[in-house]
Amino acid sequence: MKRVFSGVQPTGNIHLGNYLGALRQFVELQDDHECIYCIVDMHAITVPQDPKVLKEHILDVAALYLAVGVDPKKSIVFVQSDVPGHAELSWVLTCNSYTGELSRMTQFKAKSHNKESAPTGLFTYPVLMAADILLYATDIVPVGNDQKQHIELCRDIANRINNTRKKTFVVPDGRFLKEGARIMALDDPTQKMSKSAENIHSRISLLDDPAKIKKSIMKATTDSEGVIRFDVENKPGISNLMNIYSVLAGVPLEQIEKDYEGKGYGDFKKDLVEIVVNALAPIRERYEEIRHSDELIEILKDGAVRANAISEKTMARVKKNFGLGL
Ligand code: TYM
Repeated sequence: MKRVFSGVQPTGNIHLGNYLGALRQFVELQDDHECIYCIVDMHAITVPQDPKVLKEHILDVAALYLAVGVDPKKSIVFVQSDVPGHAELSWVLTCNSYTGELSRMTQFKAKSHNKESAPTGLFTYPVLMAADILLYATDIVPVGNDQKQHIELCRDIANRINNTRKKTFVVPDGRFLKEGARIMALDDPTQKMSKSAENIHSRISLLDDPAKIKKSIMKATTDSEGVIRFDVENKPGISNLMNIYSVLAGVPLEQIEKDYEGKGYGDFKKDLVEIVVNALAPIRERYEEIRHSDELIEILKDGAVRANAISEKTMARVKKNFGLGL
């Protein structure tokens, strides 16, 4: 069975983009792959975090994993900092990556933009991400499009080490969906939907109530043409909403265009509200059931033990091939 690894940062506001780009894939893959899903808390501290809030956000993401359908009987679910191999391997990879390639990472450029000095962790963030993936001899990494460059870097580092030493790592492939891999902000469809945007109506969080969902969708930026047609370049707003509609309702884009011929954005948005509310209701319900349960903690503890056992095998090989330790 092929092995799958992915992670989500516990930084609050997990949204429809995270769901449609990544979490949905987590569930889809778990029946016929060996899946490992991580809450990447060490990535979260590349920007300042309140320790109490971070603790809560870790459990929020864990509960959301289960609420969307990740099954701990089939998949390993754990917290990154509970497995020491991530930090350990990250250092070895840091010594085999270059400041030039890290400087080219667009996420680093965006996050450090206009700052005189950025935390080193923000700069080496993609190396820690490569360590996450390589630690588990991962074949497939299901993620949204925004992680493409990070996956490429991970492959480059793995190939570089494999070519200069004994074969040490499995070289992974990213898995990106055709639709849903890049969900855009509702208030500005030229930007991706993000957890950290100030305007809460720029995103639909997975735990939003129906009134908030309705408000965000009805306010969403469209265009003045008033025709429901998929055209990302010229009509990014309505195209983004159509994309969400298509994925959640399972209706092809061409069919949506036909169904809404002669109708306005208002009608379309009203229907989309209903589709999103219905899709998120069972997730919210399940989340409430498990978020404060002892079961959740047990699942994470058990996950860390299982993840650690796999990671130790890789670390033993890495240490041997690099001549580290006794
Ligand atoms: P994070 O926490 O920002 O996002 C989690 C996942 O959601 C996807 N995503 C989106 N997909 C579609 N549309 C959007 N607007 C959108 N926004 C986010 C992301 O691509 C991601 O799959 N660096 C990663 C976390 C990470 C990781 C890893 C992932 C750390 N180590 C190892 C895979 C493997 C991140 O910040 O994701």
